[in-house]
Amino acid sequence: MSERRAGPENRGKRILITGATGYIGRRLKDRLLREPGLSLRLLVRNRAKVRPEVRHRVEIVEGDTFQKEALAQAASGIDTAFYLIHSMGTKGDFSGLDRKSAENFRTACIAAGVKRIIYLGGLGVRQTASKHLLSRIETGEILAAEPEKIQTIWFRAGVIIGSGSASFEIIRNLTEKLPCMLTPRWVTTKTEPVGVADVISYLAAAIDLDARGNLVVDIGCGQLSFQEMMLGAAKAMGLRRILIPVPFLTPRLSSYWLTLFTPVPFAVAAALVEGLKSETIVQNDNARRHFPQIRPMSYEEAVQAAIREIAENQVLSRWCDSSAGALCDIKDQDTLAQAILRDCRCLDFGEIPAERIFASACAIGGRQGWFTYTFLWRLRGLIDKMAGGYGLNRGRRDLSALRVGDALDFWKVADLKPGQRLLLLAQMKVPGRAWLEFTISGHTLTQTAHFYPKGVWGRLYWYAVLPLHHLVFRDLLNKIVARAAGGEGGEQI
Ligand SMILES: NC(=O)c1ccc[n+]([C@@H]2O[C@H](COP(=O)([O-])OP(=O)(O)OC[C@H]3O[C@@H](n4cnc5c(N)ncnc54)[C@H](OP(=O)(O)O)[C@@H]3O)[C@@H](O)[C@H]2O)c1
Repeated sequence: MSERRAGPENRGKRILITGATGYIGRRLKDRLLREPGLSLRLLVRNRAKVRPEVRHRVEIVEGDTFQKEALAQAASGIDTAFYLIHSMGTKGDFSGLDRKSAENFRTACIAAGVKRIIYLGGLGVRQTASKHLLSRIETGEILAAEPEKIQTIWFRAGVIIGSGSASFEIIRNLTEKLPCMLTPRWVTTKTEPVGVADVISYLAAAIDLDARGNLVVDIGCGQLSFQEMMLGAAKAMGLRRILIPVPFLTPRLSSYWLTLFTPVPFAVAAALVEGLKSETIVQNDNARRHFPQIRPMSYEEAVQAAIREIAENQVLSRWCDSSAGALCDIKDQDTLAQAILRDCRCLDFGEIPAERIFASACAIGGRQGWFTYTFLWRLRGLIDKMAGGYGLNRGRRDLSALRVGDALDFWKVADLKPGQRLLLLAQMKVPGRAWLEFTISGHTLTQTAHFYPKGVWGRLYWYAVLPLHHLVFRDLLNKIVARAAGGEGGEQI
């Protein structure tokens, strides 16, 4: 893998990144921030999801691709615009939304005089494409529909291997958890993985690509089946695994299996399985011809890099960073005021430094657990998973640091004011809307569970779990303070 160096040709280029709070967009934004002379603008649905230290280094336009004014503002004065968004995960007609979104984007870019759109879609061909892949193909076709007015460089990637990518998390979890596995037919279908660092290198290098007209660039590091990827990952992790192919595992059954043993929910698992039913391999050699300076890592190297990032607590982005919906999932934290049921507890933490208390509160969840009544948290996680939710499997991106938008088990960080406030929005299956809030004022830590019940079931749920809440929430507050007193807890950014 070779990194692109910033050349003088970059100076003064104005770049728009859409999807900058998603898996690929976050990493691209971090890479481009390291390149001198580029000026970056981000179109995001919630500016709070951009880390505070990044906010003053980029221009932010808040809005989405369905808002024409926001799009016009985002595209104005831009040379190159990255299109790294999709509506998958939206209930209903996600393909229709994606078509509209791409059309709006192309129209706004043309009107603003943008010279180049760079898009990342999926590998595969129309004839055998799954519903999700078809939508990615349609998006590329729409973006590239007016080549005389705007150039489109359309990258197509298959399985992306990187810390936090959905496919890698599936491979890693299955490989780590199951020494022996019955495997369905689709695991032998050929696909073409690629390391996430190489994907970012291609996208970044396309800013300066000297080419006219539209271009489709298929990227990958060699053909492999899912089975070969699992065995390759096992080897990279120093494990021996046995896979036994069987004819009777239907895609639906496999999706349930993935849901149970990996962090991804059913919808993501089903999309992946559906996508792997037909071959998704590189169809052209444009990557080698136009980007000879990039030599993609092998699959094993990509796995090792991903494992290293996880071990070193250096995961930049994860599949669950984005909202997987037509709206940003943490946009409406103000509705907290609607909550009509509350469990509020305060504790005076005396002379313990407030920043230690806050860091301790920010260290909850993930591998460290919830400090107390672990079995009850696990049980709630299992119930959630069985009901089609995330359960506790998403864990945390980072052992101690949090940022707005981070998934934290079945919660999402909705607000973070260092030293003052941590607000978690519940993403577990629950009959209503729920939040867990920690605030520090003077020497007092306040922990509040807020609940906005949906109808009678919501109220019944709240009163049914009240005794459990009493145990869990009382102890959680005490444990957060006790850990801070003992010097435990982590650094918070
Ligand atoms: N990740 C992979 O393994 C993979 C593999 C092959 C190809 N790709 C392609 O790479 C591209 C990016 O995927 P990703 O995995 O990075 O996606 P992702 O993690 O789900 O992120 C999607 C991003 O798009 C934003 N977004 C969604 N709808 C929007 C709208 N209407 N207007 C403005 N922003 C919107 C989301 O914002 P919020 O944060 O507000 O939700 C989020 O930042 C996609 O085209 C995908 O097909 C990805």
